[in-house]
Amino acid sequence: MQKVLVTGSNGLLGQKLIRLLQTPLYANQFDYLGISRGENRLPRLTKNYHPVDLTNLQAVKAAIEVYQPHIIIHTAAMTQVDDCEMNREACWQQNVKAVEYLLQAAQPYQSHFIHLSTDFIFDGKTGMYDEQATPNPISYYGESKLAAEKIVNHSPLPWAIVRTVLVYGVAEAMSRTNIVLWVKQSLEAGKAIKVVNDQWRTPTLAEDLAQGCMLIASQKAKGIFNISGQELLTPYDIALATAHFFQLDASLIEKVDGSLFKQPAQRPPKTGFNIEKAVQLLGYRPHSFQEGLGVLKTQLVS
Ligand SMILES: NC(=O)c1ccc[n+]([C@@H]2O[C@H](COP(=O)([O-])OP(=O)(O)OC[C@H]3O[C@@H](n4cnc5c(N)ncnc54)[C@H](OP(=O)(O)O)[C@@H]3O)[C@@H](O)[C@H]2O)c1
Repeated sequence: MQKVLVTGSNGLLGQKLIRLLQTPLYANQFDYLGISRGENRLPRLTKNYHPVDLTNLQAVKAAIEVYQPHIIIHTAAMTQVDDCEMNREACWQQNVKAVEYLLQAAQPYQSHFIHLSTDFIFDGKTGMYDEQATPNPISYYGESKLAAEKIVNHSPLPWAIVRTVLVYGVAEAMSRTNIVLWVKQSLEAGKAIKVVNDQWRTPTLAEDLAQGCMLIASQKAKGIFNISGQELLTPYDIALATAHFFQLDASLIEKVDGSLFKQPAQRPPKTGFNIEKAVQLLGYRPHSFQEGLGVLKTQLVS
């Protein structure tokens, strides 16, 4: 049995990974341990969960020494872009120091380190991006994630970096929302929303991202992989598609420019990923955005 440590198991991707690891396909091959800050928010996990603050080196070392993972899928991070801009020290601790600590603690076990990164390492001037594109972050979040990538890249452990884009999906007791849920909930409440139409992304179904991570884990693949959806959409396109899919009132959605919002952190205008490498090498097959909405809908009613 291969032992997989999933950091951030309380988060959106973390929860999807834990669910995937419980399916027959993976349950026969992998044992898992979820770690996150605070209490377990996925109660079905009770016996395979430890609360660990990843910014505490001793706690990280202790957890890894006990479990001795063959594979670490590091999803935990400070993911709110504006929070990172305003709380730089906390962002650095969670997004950079935690990576350093995990790599250091895992060294004796030569764990395969699968690290989650982001399209926000790019400036968004020349998307869509492939794995060779040159990063140039324009937010502190992006800077911290790029710094973490560099540390992973220089690690003596076997490693893979998974870059992803605008993840959507449903999870239990979520600490943050995502674009599809925000649009759906706002329109259901009859609330008018302003949505930008001058940014482009390839939105990613959380299940697809989890699947991409597990393809890497199963194949012990190394290097950088873009794992996202494949349709290039603006947030406004996403909002309209969501409204139509759930038969909600699309007239509540107002198309606006990003310049309308005064946010602490800058957003890259056009990211979006070319996922050909993951398709060819890993057999990665993401859902279309429309299919992704269908997956999300079944989870909301179940
Ligand atoms: N979501 C996106 O749109 C997106 C886009 C590009 C890249 N990514 C990357 O993909 C990864 C997964 O994202 P996600 O959306 O699943 O994130 P998420 O839902 O925000 O979950 C992150 C998890 O990390 C945990 N965490 C944060 N700091 C920690 C610490 N010091 N010790 C232990 N646990 C800690 C959080 O715990 P609490 O719940 O207790 O705070 C949370 O459960 C991240 O690395 C992110 O940078 C995400």
